[in-house]
Amino acid sequence: MFLKRIIVAALLLSSTIGFSQRKDLPTDFLSKEFHKERREALRAKMPKNSVAVFFANAVRNRANDVDYVYHQDPNFYYLTGYREPNAVILIFSEEQKSDKGNYSELFYVQKRNAMAEMWNGYRLGVKGVQKTLGIQNAFNGEDFVNLSIDFSKFDKIIFTDFKNDVRDNKRDRADLYDLIAQFKQKVGYKSSSDKIPASDKNIKVATNIDTKAIRGIMATLREVKTKEELKLLKKAVRISAMGQIEVMKAMHPNMSETEVQGVHEFVYKKYGAEYEGYPSIVGGGNNGCILHYTENSKTKLDKDLVLMDLGAEYRGYTADVTRTIPANGKFSKEQRAIYDLVYKAQEAGIKEYIIGGRISKPGQTARKIINEGLVKLGIIKSVNERHLYFPHGTSHHIGLDVHDPGNYTIFKENMVLSMEPGIYIPEGSKCDKKWWGIAVRIEDDILVTKNGPVNLSADAPRTADAIEKMMAKKSVLDDLVLPNIDD
Ligand code: GLY
Ligand code: MN
Ligand code: MN
Repeated sequence: MFLKRIIVAALLLSSTIGFSQRKDLPTDFLSKEFHKERREALRAKMPKNSVAVFFANAVRNRANDVDYVYHQDPNFYYLTGYREPNAVILIFSEEQKSDKGNYSELFYVQKRNAMAEMWNGYRLGVKGVQKTLGIQNAFNGEDFVNLSIDFSKFDKIIFTDFKNDVRDNKRDRADLYDLIAQFKQKVGYKSSSDKIPASDKNIKVATNIDTKAIRGIMATLREVKTKEELKLLKKAVRISAMGQIEVMKAMHPNMSETEVQGVHEFVYKKYGAEYEGYPSIVGGGNNGCILHYTENSKTKLDKDLVLMDLGAEYRGYTADVTRTIPANGKFSKEQRAIYDLVYKAQEAGIKEYIIGGRISKPGQTARKIINEGLVKLGIIKSVNERHLYFPHGTSHHIGLDVHDPGNYTIFKENMVLSMEPGIYIPEGSKCDKKWWGIAVRIEDDILVTKNGPVNLSADAPRTADAIEKMMAKKSVLDDLVLPNIDD
């Protein structure tokens, strides 16, 4: 029995070595040079004599033995490229002197573990991080406890306050929970949400902590995209447009919301996108009035107008594209009237994605057009009437987050933002019944350039006529008939 265990352990160890030699990964992830340059850009924006500390996202439990698919914290990914949990990076504004060599960053990651890798997948470990991500000052997470820096010497310790989102089950040494607890102890910090045990009362609370600065610094870094980022973002958007096109061709009145979602997501995967950037929204008729409707559970779309807000995530970058189409291939008179109004508002707004222009302007333009249009259609009485038919903004940055950080002041070259006006008329609204259950959003992703706005999602038809024309075409999925499995 004992011998058997040794053999299993030896086999696992040898297979771990195999695990590190991956040649089957996509090759177009952000480069290590990108992450290095971004850490340098961060340093340049940090106050003198400061340290910025970033933690990996927590693993979140879905139920019992099943966790949600892991997704790295976007700031952490932006700065490191690391896609595993249980890690912390300290970035110093100036080089730090040490007997063992000077350093300007310290990166603690999860160590290789044959058993864990057999169950849950590859780990880079310290050597992998040094080689693949190019961060030389990398250490096992377990060594973080021995880090003996006098944090009180810094003018500022910058990090984002911790939320109560670190699960406390299935604990492991040097997991994220430990790293955060150790960090708090080292710097003398308590989150507002921390319960303070009696034994902890003597901890000196540091005065050099800044949990607000990160937000502004990262917003400034991330709101303008580099060339490398734009390549990935453009691909995510084009893939999402391809999903919309295929659904337009495949759509028929017997389809369910779930099936429509499946077609989009199938196209994403077919093009190599690893995930969706946010839960897919497919709402037929009245369901489209729920802005973030993700249940997608209606079984038959029939003559509904179907609002489809979905975005592929490609190498971490997410698109955000919405098209609204009639399930039977033809807009009714009322559906078309609302659609055309949203389209007009969107067209006018897109023209204002101009370097130096205010980011709030396209939304104001769209709102004016929509209010005037709603009066003309008799849905509201005056342009000043308060209503909830257009209850959201139009313009947010996209990037590693679908709502990417930014300062939201003026448009700059190489920003990418959504333009997404909408009109939603739920059943029971105070207008003629003929409008009830109509919801339209049109959302495109706009790149700001020296030559004016570029609509990155323009491949997917946008006018009512172009949509009807596309819907008349044959889909590659029309011939896909699966066996009936109902008894
Ligand atoms: N898909 C979320 C949004 O449009 O902002
Ligand atoms: Mn959006
Ligand atoms: Mn959207």
